[in-house]
Amino acid sequence: MKVSGKHFRTIWRKPDDERVVQLIDQRFLPHDFVIEEVGTVEQMATAIREMHVRGAGLIGASAGYGMYLAALEAMRQNSFDDCMARAAAQLRATRPTAVNLSWAIERQLQNIATAKTADEKMAVALRTAEMIADEDAEHCRMIGQHGLALIRQIAGANHNRALNVLTHCNAGWLAFVDYGSATAPIYAAQDSDLPLHVWVTETRPRNQGSKLTAWELGQHGVSHTLIADSAAGHLMQRGEVDLVIVGTDRTTYAGDVANKIGTYLEALAAKANDVPFYVALPSSSIDWKMRDGLKEIPIEQRGAEEVKNADGWREGRQIAVRIAPDTSPVSNYGFDVTPGELVTGLVTERGICEANEESIRSLFPEQAR
Ligand code: MRU
Repeated sequence: MKVSGKHFRTIWRKPDDERVVQLIDQRFLPHDFVIEEVGTVEQMATAIREMHVRGAGLIGASAGYGMYLAALEAMRQNSFDDCMARAAAQLRATRPTAVNLSWAIERQLQNIATAKTADEKMAVALRTAEMIADEDAEHCRMIGQHGLALIRQIAGANHNRALNVLTHCNAGWLAFVDYGSATAPIYAAQDSDLPLHVWVTETRPRNQGSKLTAWELGQHGVSHTLIADSAAGHLMQRGEVDLVIVGTDRTTYAGDVANKIGTYLEALAAKANDVPFYVALPSSSIDWKMRDGLKEIPIEQRGAEEVKNADGWREGRQIAVRIAPDTSPVSNYGFDVTPGELVTGLVTERGICEANEESIRSLFPEQAR
């Protein structure tokens, strides 16, 4: 997608140095646009853990490139396979909730295992990393097309007045390689001149909504308004939301959806007010081993500072200010689980299905039980 009118992906291999991966360091957005150069698996693990990159699809693509950087390092070691196993464990330990992380690492390990020599393995790791990134972009583009049909349908029922869409956190192109999941239908609608307005929740405590979603929508000229997270229910009661579209970090094969903390409350409010609640996701975010999201999905708990502080930009640099008593204990769950029965539908690269096992498997029949 675009930054100041120029096309960017969120991650790519440096054109004139194949040993380096470049990525947009999201910690400084929306104030500063910084490109980071990553040359080791250690640096990639740090970039994922410290959220220079974040969002399910991008975490997966970063892990894919991380394994490629590990393969470059493994070429200089005695045992290629031991080195890759260590890198896989290091990357896997960075963030627990987004299933795209382990999905990308497993895909790399399986593909690399088919090659014989270290040179071949390194070449396979590079091809696989590029394939994961390209597929992520293409799947998000397809989500945009399926979501556009949905938006047209709801807009038609609304007599084509401007459609009010609410989204939470950032499931935009910054959370993937390109297009985004929840935002792909929004960008497709904008490109089709469909009148549309987006409510953007700020998404405390890290404010991915106000820092990232508002910024990327603004870069694409999409009409949007920032709201406090707690305003979502109020807007739904007033009939000011026609459709909710969010992303997911992991969805079980039975349709339970883990997404940024606060999503569950929005789904409850949507149900109570008859507002359609859709989740947009590439199939790389479906966990084919997990059924019960509440019992099985690991929920990341993050540091107290995120809740106790607010950060922002002042005189050209990022500063944090204390907004809570120093001594108060903090709980900081990063994600929650919305049961499938609260979800109207899942928008995937293959089309839209209901959030239940039968409907999900009907779109992905190759996923044997
Ligand atoms: O903690 P983050 O920023 O990596 O969380 C991920 C998210 O941005 C959201 O949960 C998003 O809605 C789903 S990821 C596409």
